[in-house]
Amino acid sequence: MRVTNRSILLALAGVAAADSPIIGPVCPWNSSPRLRLPVCASPDFVRASIAPELLFGTKDGVRNLTWNQAGWQGPHRCINGTCLFSNDNIGGGIALITSEHHAKIVASFPQGPAEEAAPPPFHVAKVAGKGMGLVANRTIRKGEIIMQRTPTLLAQTAPIVDLDPTLRDLLYVLAVEALPDARQAAFMAQVGSDIHDKVNTNCFLVFVDGSSHLGCYPEVARMNHDCRPNAHYRISNMTHTTVAVRTIAPGEELSISYVDLLLTHAERRALLHKWGFECACAQCSQSAADTAASDARLRQIAKLKAELGDFSTTKVTAETGGEMVGLYEDEGLHTYLGNAYTRAALNFALFGEEERAREYAGMAVEALELEMGPGTGDARAMRILAEDPRKHWTWGKRRKHGK
Ligand SMILES: *[C@@H]1O[C@H](CO)[C@@H](O)[C@H](O)[C@H]1NC(C)=O
Ligand SMILES: *[C@@H]1O[C@H](CO)[C@@H](O)[C@H](O)[C@H]1NC(C)=O
Ligand SMILES: *[C@@H]1O[C@H](CO)[C@@H](O)[C@H](O)[C@H]1NC(C)=O
Ligand SMILES: *[C@@H]1O[C@H](CO)[C@@H](O)[C@H](O)[C@H]1NC(C)=O
Repeated sequence: MRVTNRSILLALAGVAAADSPIIGPVCPWNSSPRLRLPVCASPDFVRASIAPELLFGTKDGVRNLTWNQAGWQGPHRCINGTCLFSNDNIGGGIALITSEHHAKIVASFPQGPAEEAAPPPFHVAKVAGKGMGLVANRTIRKGEIIMQRTPTLLAQTAPIVDLDPTLRDLLYVLAVEALPDARQAAFMAQVGSDIHDKVNTNCFLVFVDGSSHLGCYPEVARMNHDCRPNAHYRISNMTHTTVAVRTIAPGEELSISYVDLLLTHAERRALLHKWGFECACAQCSQSAADTAASDARLRQIAKLKAELGDFSTTKVTAETGGEMVGLYEDEGLHTYLGNAYTRAALNFALFGEEERAREYAGMAVEALELEMGPGTGDARAMRILAEDPRKHWTWGKRRKHGK
């Protein structure tokens, strides 16, 4: 077990024989100067705040769990049923802050070999106006997996939000200290003033058995935002996979979007501003006329989408879906094409247009597999439509009831 900072542990457990309470900018019990505690709680404060049985989950201290296998260690520490676990064998090291129930599920995730290309098709470089970023160092083809990562830190959201900030930050420090040195360094190199801030700024929402967690993938966090990104990511169980959505040339910066791509210019900027940065991507910096044209396309997409879903309207024709796909393409929304092709394919089937239903369903399969991984449910549904549009439940339904 790597969490051996004796003074923190003793202080947290309330058994430290501290001569005097220690409050100050430098926490003397923090043996790792890289991990700056945002608040120094004195051992007395901690003793007054937490009973040892809350901290350890049991009165007996650290237990070995029956599922404690395949490299999993823990619970190292618990606060009110939220515990710290770690595993040095997964992705170079992972620390987990969650309930025992969710930790068991995480331990059940298959650890297949990473599919990503080795060596990586990118390097870290300075990018004009954005600090550091990832830059392709060879041609990356559309659909290629750029990187695949397991989290370095995975923390359940609800208890973290409810915890007293001092205790939360202590738990974060212990979690990061539980990581092997290289992973600790990668985690701490992320943007953010302290661990809490780093988690809030860089980490992704991950659902474990329906419960929201924040998963931190330091290498992925180096990818900058673009409103029309060339890469797309998906998270399956806790594995984060980044895929190229179009061919990327050597020297191009790799990007993902931090916000919904269908937002208008003003909406995107406002959201990104709340996140603490000004959007400076090409799409945000274009001329007023181009911005107005882009916003008009986005509003038209929203309108057509609503109409396609509304069976009481007579405005929709067989062409509406194709028209919407055209707008996605003009707008450079490569990442969302799977959804657009799907709606268009269904609409062609609804109007009894066999050839085009087949064609768009085929394109939907390809785009959906790229976005969501092979064998996804939506792609299977589109494959069935492509095989025989006439047998599909949608066949001709809109033609009959429409105009
Ligand atoms: C937990 O397991 C380790 C090694 O697997 C062993 O050294 C240790 O004594 C065990 N601790 C308890 C409390 O059973
Ligand atoms: C533990 O939970 C109880 C009841 O929900 C709460 O009153 C207490 O403040 C919590 N303790 C900590 C350390 O968060
Ligand atoms: C996710 O994990 C579960 C076990 O918890 C496993 O059955 C399932 O196949 C995994 N899914 C993927 C896509 O790896
Ligand atoms: C690209 O950069 C990575 C380092 O991130 C390196 O391992 C790889 O060999 C480079 N590939 C090419 C084609 O230069």
